[in-house]
Amino acid sequence: MSTASRPFHILGICGSLRRQSFNLMALKAAGELMPEGMQLSIASIRDIPMFDGEPQDTPASVKQLHAQMMAADGVLFASPEYNWTMSGALKNAIDWLSRCEPQPFAGKAVAILSATTGPLGGARSQNDLRKVMVAMEAYTFNRPEVFIGNAQGKFDAEGKLTDEATRKILTQQQAGFHKLLHTLRQGAA
Ligand SMILES: Cc1cc2nc3c(=O)[nH]c(=O)nc-3n(C[C@H](O)[C@H](O)[C@H](O)COP(=O)(O)O)c2cc1C
Repeated sequence: MSTASRPFHILGICGSLRRQSFNLMALKAAGELMPEGMQLSIASIRDIPMFDGEPQDTPASVKQLHAQMMAADGVLFASPEYNWTMSGALKNAIDWLSRCEPQPFAGKAVAILSATTGPLGGARSQNDLRKVMVAMEAYTFNRPEVFIGNAQGKFDAEGKLTDEATRKILTQQQAGFHKLLHTLRQGAA
C-alpha cells in the first residue's frame, strides 16, 4: 500500500482516569464516526507517574506512550475539565512526553474534544490544551469544536452516544480532521 493511501492511525488519549468516563465514551464514539481511512486506538495514561524532573530512566509507561505517539499520524484528545482546565493526569502525561526525544507532538496533527457534566462542555479546558499544543509545535485542528455539555444526558447505560446533534458535530469534526491529516501528509511527501 502506498503512503498516500495508507489509513491514518489516530491515537486517542483520554484525560480522565474514571472507568465510566464520559470523555472515554466520547472518544470511542469519535472512533466509530471517523470517515473511512481513519482508525482510532486508545492509549492509557493511568500508569504514568508524576513527572519530577529528575535525570532518571524514563518509566516504561511513558516509553510505551511515546512509541504509540511516534507510530500515530495524529492524536485525538478527550479532556475533562477540572477547575476550568485540563486534568492533572493529562497535563502530567504531556509534560513527560515533552521531554522525550524526539518530542512526539512536533508536527503532529491533533484534535480535541471534551465532555463535562456542566453546560459549557469544557470550553475553558480546551483553550488551555490548545495553548499547550502551541508550545509543543503540534498542528491543532480548529473547527468545528466539540464541547459536550450535560454529558450525563447524552450517553446510554452502555456508554453509547445517543445525542444526535453531538453525533453530527463529532462526525463533522472527524471529517475535517481527516482533511488536515491529508494536507499534512501531502506536505511531508
Ligand atoms: C475535581 C473536579 C473539578 C471539576 N471542574 C469542572 C469544571 O471546571 N468545569 C466543568 O464543566 N466540570 C467540572 N467538573 C465536572 C466534570 O465535568 C465531570 O466530573 C465529568 O464527568 C468529568 O469527566 P469524565 O466523565 O470523563 O470523568 C469537575 C469535576 C471534578 C472531579
